[in-house]
Amino acid sequence: MRKILIVNPKGGSGKSTLSTHLASWFAWQEAKVMLGDLDKQHSSHHWLDLRPAHLPQIARWEIGDDHIARPPKGSQVAVLDTPAGFSGNKLKKVLKIVDHVIVPIQPSAFDLWACADFFEELAETKAVRQEDVQVGAVGMRVNARTQAANPLPEFLRKYDIPLLTCVRDTQLYNQTIQRGMSIFDLPHSKTQRDRAEWQALIDWVLKR
Ligand SMILES: Nc1ncnc2c1ncn2[C@@H]1O[C@H](COP(=O)(O)OP(=O)(O)OP(=O)(O)O)[C@@H](O)[C@H]1O
Ligand SMILES: [Mg+2]
Repeated sequence: MRKILIVNPKGGSGKSTLSTHLASWFAWQEAKVMLGDLDKQHSSHHWLDLRPAHLPQIARWEIGDDHIARPPKGSQVAVLDTPAGFSGNKLKKVLKIVDHVIVPIQPSAFDLWACADFFEELAETKAVRQEDVQVGAVGMRVNARTQAANPLPEFLRKYDIPLLTCVRDTQLYNQTIQRGMSIFDLPHSKTQRDRAEWQALIDWVLKR
C-alpha cells in the first residue's frame, strides 16, 4: 500500500488541492483509495461528500490526530491531508506510518520562509534520515511566464528535496473542486496540459 502525506506549515499552499487530486488520479486507475483529513476545516472530506456517484469512488479514511492509526487493510493508496502548522509530535507520529511526503509550495518569498524550519525539522526526523520516507516538493500556482524567476529549485536544493513538478495557476482547480471533482474527472481534451504537469509527480510516487 502507498501512504502519502501532504504537508506544508503554510496555510493556503495547496495541500487539499494536491490531496484530492492525487486521490482522484489513483481512483481512476481503479485503485482502492482512501482519503484522510487531519484538518479541522475538513476541506478534503467536504470535497469527498460532494463527489458525484458516477465518478471513481474514494473512501473516507477516518483518522484523528490524537490517535494516528494505519490506513485500513485492503486499501492500495492512502492520501492524508493535513492542516497548516502541522509539526512536532504529530508530524513525527504520522511519519512513522507513511512512505511518501509531498510538500506543495508556492514560489513566493513568504512561502519559502515559512517552509525553512519545517524542512529542517523534517530532515532531523528518524524516518526521513533512514530513508523510510521519501520527500518531494511540488511548485503550486507556478506559471510558465514566471518559471525563469522561480526561486523554488535553488531553495529546495539547500534541503536536498527534489522539485517533482510545477502546477500552473488556473481556475480549473477551483471550478472542479467545488463540485467534488478534480481535473482528472474532466475530459482529456480539456486537461491535456494540466495532466502533463502532474505526470512527473505521479511517476515519482509510483517508483516506490
Ligand atoms: N494550481 C492552482 N491554480 C489555481 N488555484 C489553486 C491552485 N492550487 C490551489 N489553488 C487554490 O488555492 C486555494 C488554497 O488551496 P488549498 O485549499 O488546496 O490549500 P491548503 O494548503 O489546503 O489550505 P489550508 O492550509 O487552508 O488547508 C484554494 O482556493 C485552491 O482552489
Ligand atoms: Mg487544506
